[in-house]
Amino acid sequence: MRHLDDVLGPVLGVETSCDETGVAVYDGEAGLMGEALYSQIALHADYGGVVPELASRDHIRKTLGLVNTVLAESQLTRDAIHGVAYTAGPGLVGALMVGASIARGLAWSLKVPAIGVHHMEAHLLSALLEKDPPDFPFLALLVSGGHTMLVDVKGVGQYEVLGNTLDDAVGEAFDKTARLLGLPYPGGPALAALAESGRAGRFRFPRPMTDRPGLDFSFSGLKTFAFNTFEANKDDPTAAADIARAFEDAVVDTLTIKCRRAVEQTGRDSLVVAGGVGANTRLRAQLKSTSQKEGWRVFYPRPDLCTDNGAMIAYLGWLRLSGGERGDMSINVRARWPLGELLPPAPAAE
Ligand code: KG4
Ligand code: ZN
Repeated sequence: MRHLDDVLGPVLGVETSCDETGVAVYDGEAGLMGEALYSQIALHADYGGVVPELASRDHIRKTLGLVNTVLAESQLTRDAIHGVAYTAGPGLVGALMVGASIARGLAWSLKVPAIGVHHMEAHLLSALLEKDPPDFPFLALLVSGGHTMLVDVKGVGQYEVLGNTLDDAVGEAFDKTARLLGLPYPGGPALAALAESGRAGRFRFPRPMTDRPGLDFSFSGLKTFAFNTFEANKDDPTAAADIARAFEDAVVDTLTIKCRRAVEQTGRDSLVVAGGVGANTRLRAQLKSTSQKEGWRVFYPRPDLCTDNGAMIAYLGWLRLSGGERGDMSINVRARWPLGELLPPAPAAE
């Protein structure tokens, strides 16, 4: 086993928490050396959503091949890898187990440390992979298929959750609304594309929980509102696009209002937007113009770093392993794992 005082070289990251197999190599000096992603969209499309058992099986088929691709792209042999990181949660248990088992097996055979990392922490820190990264402390808006959170980020592993969703996550609301509009899975990007041809203002959706103090969210009502509007306009072929636009505008306004409120409440001057819904063009544009008007800054990872990927896992693994953190040999994953439980990286007790 390598020692803590060795300079930590390239770390391999493996992401298998849901329907994307992501692998990447990150090195403190060289940066992101290689990355590869395989999306299971086609596999799940017929079912209108992710089928967990199919997801696990496909991760088994794809992960090692992607590891080889990424090593070749990075021009590294396996021996050059100093550590292996994998997503240990939150996510689908079977899918997580695949990545965890492969990553731990690889690390064991290479005699390097392995570490299980938190998927949402990886999203949250992914903006640090970009050229002009924010300084700590900053606020983060985490918007994915399973989470909607506003977090005060004081440093790596120092997270205070300021707001959370009381029901559906925002990505989930996009996906469910898209489905009832008859759009294919994954619904978020499909709904956003349809909204482009929709007329703004024809339908007016509520901005949930913005009329009361606090930073929590609720998105399930919007989905019902979309359903009722759709039913009431069944005979109008242009209604779906206008509903998509009204839904997207309501979500984007609601998120913007809560972000402004979080900036006011905390006095932070930087906001990172991360997670799959962070790829939404209208959200990115509106937060940017609001922040410019109000004198704070918003940071986005590029859209393919917003959605699930191996790069954020390799990077977070590198950060935590560099900080001396080590996992034991067990293969543990967690379907649920509150972000607030995380701690800063620290060397394991001898
Ligand atoms: O972070 P992510 O890739 O996976 C999870 O960790 O959940 O987020 C996936 C979510 C899905 O709900 C998807 O519909 C949504 O992000 N999404 C979008 C867009 N791209 C992905 N939602 C709205 N607009 C988009 N452009
Ligand atoms: Zn994610």
